[in-house]
Amino acid sequence: MKHDVEQKTDRNLALELVRVTEAAALAASRWMGLGKKNEADGAAVEAMRRAFDSVAIDGTVVIGEGEMDEAPMLYIGEKVGMGGPAMDIAVDPLEGTTLTAKGGPSALAVLALAERGNFLHAPDVYMDKIAVGGGLPRGVVDLDAGVTENLRNLARAKKCEISDLTACILDRDRHKEMIAKCREAGARIVLISDGDVAGVMATTQPETGIDIYMGWGGAPEGVLAAAALRCVDGQIQGRLIYEDDTQRARAIEMGITDPDRKFDIFDMAKGDVMFAATGVTSGPMLKGIRRSPTGATTHSIVMRSKSGTIRFVEAFHNFTTKTWTPH
Ligand code: FBP
Repeated sequence: MKHDVEQKTDRNLALELVRVTEAAALAASRWMGLGKKNEADGAAVEAMRRAFDSVAIDGTVVIGEGEMDEAPMLYIGEKVGMGGPAMDIAVDPLEGTTLTAKGGPSALAVLALAERGNFLHAPDVYMDKIAVGGGLPRGVVDLDAGVTENLRNLARAKKCEISDLTACILDRDRHKEMIAKCREAGARIVLISDGDVAGVMATTQPETGIDIYMGWGGAPEGVLAAAALRCVDGQIQGRLIYEDDTQRARAIEMGITDPDRKFDIFDMAKGDVMFAATGVTSGPMLKGIRRSPTGATTHSIVMRSKSGTIRFVEAFHNFTTKTWTPH
């Protein structure tokens, strides 16, 4: 009986989470292409924060918009939700602020949820990451192996040639060597200008054509990506990168006892996790917000690690009804 109630609660919660990412994406999309990334981000944050008010959880933000003194809303430690089970929340109300400002592809509103204590409290530093989707042998790729070795092992596991593989890498100078090695090994590459949560998520769906994500991106984004991969039995490893001693000290202060260790997926997101994302602009997995004279259509994904269900939700939001609110 208890099990049934828990299961129903979880299922309902998963759908409630979609409403939260939908609200953020709808708000951000008004700023698409207007060249104002901070305004787009601010709109997403505010809408997401408000939408959380009707979610039945006792939530604590552990990955959010920054420290309490830097962020007015969804800061680390902020309590959200209308009361219910104690949950930790990782959010990125607008993942891809520049993408949105320029009308580029794959900007998302993203969040993940787990029981208290299950997410890595990642500081806002870079993380070196490597990720692949589900259905592959554990340890098929490793952060400490070379690019060629990883591609060779992945090709073997996928029973294909390296030239059949496509890697997704953020287009940054810091990845020049990685890109060169990838090309030398014969793999194809999709270089993205921003948005590595979407880059990692792309490894989970064969139709995106992306087999592996590699390179440095934000550490908080790494935790969100880990939560997504947990739901599809994917794999990710990450190591924090510090630009100075202050950043290293910050990691220790946030409870990371060995700041140089390699984190695996369960170090970043353990226990039962839920993940939801809504497209702001269109990408290979999610369509962006489409507006009409009467409303807007959203396209979202919501996943639960417990059941392994991957649900795509397409919703029409009718702005003409009296009851419509932005969340
Ligand atoms: P924002 O949404 O905060 O602009 O982040 C976009 C992003 O591309 C992330 O997806 C990625 O993890 C990070 O920035 C990479 O950082 P940088 O632009 O410094 O290389």
